[in-house]
Amino acid sequence: MTETTEVPVAVAKSETKTPSPTNENGHAEEAVVEQTTNGTGDEKVADDAKKEEKKEDPPKEMRAVVLTGFGGFKNVKILKKPEPSVAADEVLIRVKACGLNFQDLMVRLGAIDSPPKTPTILGFECAGEIEAVGEEVGDEFKVGDRVVALPEYRAWSELVTVSKRYVYKIPDEMTYQDAAAILINYLVAYILLFDLVSLREGKSLLLHSVGGGVGQALVQLARTVPNVTIFGVCSKSKHEALSATGLIDHLIDRTDYVNEVRKITTEGVDIVLDCLCGEECNRGYGLLKPMGKYILYGSSNVVTGETKSFFSVARSWWQVDKVSPIKLFDENKSLSGFNLRHLLYQQDGSEYVRSTVDKIFGLWKDGKVKPVVDSAWALEDVAEAMQKLHDRKNIGKVVLDPALEPKPKPATPAKSKSKKQSSEDKKSKDDGEKKVENGETNGEEKEEEAVNGNGEAAESEEKPTNGDATESEKKESS
Ligand SMILES: NC(=O)c1ccc[n+]([C@@H]2O[C@H](COP(=O)([O-])OP(=O)(O)OC[C@H]3O[C@@H](n4cnc5c(N)ncnc54)[C@H](OP(=O)(O)O)[C@@H]3O)[C@@H](O)[C@H]2O)c1
Repeated sequence: MTETTEVPVAVAKSETKTPSPTNENGHAEEAVVEQTTNGTGDEKVADDAKKEEKKEDPPKEMRAVVLTGFGGFKNVKILKKPEPSVAADEVLIRVKACGLNFQDLMVRLGAIDSPPKTPTILGFECAGEIEAVGEEVGDEFKVGDRVVALPEYRAWSELVTVSKRYVYKIPDEMTYQDAAAILINYLVAYILLFDLVSLREGKSLLLHSVGGGVGQALVQLARTVPNVTIFGVCSKSKHEALSATGLIDHLIDRTDYVNEVRKITTEGVDIVLDCLCGEECNRGYGLLKPMGKYILYGSSNVVTGETKSFFSVARSWWQVDKVSPIKLFDENKSLSGFNLRHLLYQQDGSEYVRSTVDKIFGLWKDGKVKPVVDSAWALEDVAEAMQKLHDRKNIGKVVLDPALEPKPKPATPAKSKSKKQSSEDKKSKDDGEKKVENGETNGEEKEEEAVNGNGEAAESEEKPTNGDATESEKKESS
């Protein structure tokens, strides 16, 4: 991860900053407004203004995880951004933990519907303490409240402003990391199981990505209903750890799950919850018993590499069989879908979501659910954290914690090279240039080649900071 500091733009003598309502992503932004003089030449007033300006404090800054453009990890940067100011219906949250969701990988790739305009601060989920409240917030929230929130982007920063509609107080005993790990995963799982399929005793379920954040929430919530049979599909590498929990009846490798399920039950299952899309839609539908219910709630199959593949996106859609209501009528099957982001930000579902959060916190207080946190990472290590999801290595939720120290990074290779090395480099450069002239490239974008496993630009001009705080960060933390 490369850390860069965004240099604050100096405000010219004849300019002042005034708040503008929102930018294209719907975020509060500061606009630079030019002031005109009246031409009377009132020198004293001008002098006073100059002195006043000199006294003005520089704008306060915060660290944030910024997506500078769609693509690989190198587009995810820690930048200094001006601290946001709170609007009338918003609260300002000092962020203590952020949730990393599969959806964030899709945003980075630009493989999400209605993607944001870049640059934008990433993240949909964070927990922290309220530092300021807008004038229209009323008694619902006050400074010092411990909350978890669902802003539409901008959650991965030290401070975030969020409309009170998407902010929820957390129980006193709940840690910030648990709050950031519980919210989206258990909301999705609760709504799928109890509002959309109405899970009842004796039913069987097929769950994909069962070791992930939503997957683990689904397992715990399904276990609150007696005599439910869970078929959990995931990468083989997770089977040992997951079988130790004793919560999943049949752990199945994701590569041949249809045959594996059929070996266990020729009848099929009552419920299929599919977060993969593409061919899995048809396979899931095919595994349903009569009276069975299938729900699509994700499209992880569109993620095939570090950058977006138009082929994967297209394939994921054209592979899906078009099922007519007449076929459903004949076969006694149901199909539905769920998208929390659309429900919250486009379909005005905030009150329904709030009542569901209350139920989830109730289950947490009763000890019926407990979020599984896979690992916690510093903001500077966000690329590595994202890589863990890409590599299918997480069990439970990955969280970011702005207070954590970044991991030490390998030292930057020495600049000076031996004569032999330099002449070898020159030869390979010349060879490379010849290849390009002849049109012989490997088809990869040069920019992507410069990214190493940690998501850092291997030979980038932006040098890794090895986690050392910049001067302004040091001041901030002191
Ligand atoms: N509808 C909604 O409102 C909503 C909200 C939140 C999440 N979701 C969806 O729920 C699913 C799980 O989300 P999550 O945030 O909890 O993430 P997650 O399951 O923790 O994501 C990581 C896991 O996804 C699995 N996976 C499946 N396809 C993959 C691919 N192409 N590349 C890499 N990993 C892949 C891997 O596990 P295995 O290899 O073990 O399968 C990996 O460990 C996602 O599809 C997400 O979009 C939907």
